[in-house]
Amino acid sequence: MGMRILITGSGGREHALAWKLSQSSRVERVYAAPGNAGTALIGENVPISPEDAAGLLAFAREHRIDLTVVGPDDALAAGVVDVFEDAGLRIFGPRAAAARLESSKAFAKDFMQRHGIPTAAYREFTDSAEARDYCRAANYPLVVKADGLALGKGVIIAADAEQADAAIRTCMEDKVFGAAGMKVVVEEFLVGVECSIHALVDGSGYLLFPDCRDHKKALDGDLGLNTGGMGTICPSGTVDEEMTARIRAEILDRFMAGIRADGLSFRGMLFPGLMLTAEGPKVLEFNCRWGDPETQVLVRRLNSDMVPLLEATIDGTLTDQFPVWDDAAAVCVILASGGYPGAYEKGKAIHGLSKAAFIEGVEVFHAGTKASDGQVLTSGGRVLGVTGKALGLEAARALAYLGADEISFDGMQRRNDIGAPRRMP
Ligand SMILES: Nc1ncnc2c1ncn2[C@@H]1O[C@H](COP(=O)(O)OP(=O)(O)O)[C@@H](O)[C@H]1O
Ligand SMILES: [Mg+2]
Repeated sequence: MGMRILITGSGGREHALAWKLSQSSRVERVYAAPGNAGTALIGENVPISPEDAAGLLAFAREHRIDLTVVGPDDALAAGVVDVFEDAGLRIFGPRAAAARLESSKAFAKDFMQRHGIPTAAYREFTDSAEARDYCRAANYPLVVKADGLALGKGVIIAADAEQADAAIRTCMEDKVFGAAGMKVVVEEFLVGVECSIHALVDGSGYLLFPDCRDHKKALDGDLGLNTGGMGTICPSGTVDEEMTARIRAEILDRFMAGIRADGLSFRGMLFPGLMLTAEGPKVLEFNCRWGDPETQVLVRRLNSDMVPLLEATIDGTLTDQFPVWDDAAAVCVILASGGYPGAYEKGKAIHGLSKAAFIEGVEVFHAGTKASDGQVLTSGGRVLGVTGKALGLEAARALAYLGADEISFDGMQRRNDIGAPRRMP
């Protein structure tokens, strides 16, 4: 009998994972908890929250799930992997103790500093007066980060002492991010090009994926507010062989040595956000799960089966895996609700989905969508990720926008420069 897979989460990443895993000849059925209108087309949505470990475990037992794949970061921090592993069920993702590398920026900075992993110079504070004193005498720009998970909104780049002061107030006194902001990391501003690295880590070794580039800012030309990501390209075009060698030696090798030295166990996806600076690659943060919208472009380029990769990660046998990547480039353009990343309305009817899907080389991944009476409605900030795959970045980009042009909903916003030639920083 084929495998039954449960994917937790409801974003574009989860639809992309479901899409890829369902293509495996070994997979019989894919469930998504809670999923979206896209995962519902591939498998079955189940109304369980990704953080409800007990609910997920009961479902997995009842439906004889062979493998559970965790999507979002907060589920890892909540210990869903610990609960499954302790119950003897197979699950993809690191345990909470290792996922702290993402859920606490101070923990990650300390880890990097102790293990010689290049990162921005920093100080951490639990006292707002001390943080203020430090910021008053610092050089600008300066970066203030809430320690914990803050839905991608906990990082403030301060242009001057006044802005740093406001950031400290927001985090530590107004407690806008709750407990996540009681501690802050204040770090040096790095200049360079950002890039997203993904590597499967099986406890003893790692398998590096192709590099991607996200576009974090809401508006064209990298203007506006930070978002969860408005589009991705793969490959990023900024990582040559020499840079890859440095990323391996200075970041991933040292990460593995650090994990070992600290007695931690890490099995799952490690996704470091990097700044490629004049001095070399530096880690902005560690994410302990698949990127969103990086996953959307990675799955488009992975030509071989994904199931063995996930299994080998859990079993510690990644050295036997040789994934096949497409030579073609992939581009993902996010279609977002009007107002995102601020307040936005939901429940708008989405038009043109089937027209876009009809284009050869285009694949549309759902994020904040909901099926209702045969219609697909918006239900989140990032609504869809339209991907194009073709030989060469320009062709992939043209294809993604060709697909995106077919789709419309009230208030829809997108960036028009995903993968466009970069202005030098
Ligand atoms: N030290 C830094 N120098 C320059 N930019 C930074 C720095 N740290 C973070 N950023 C910017 O802020 C964004 C978010 O920071 P990150 O550490 O990735 O936090 P999160 O993804 O949890 O919000 C980064 O993608 C990058 O654009
Ligand atoms: Mg980030």
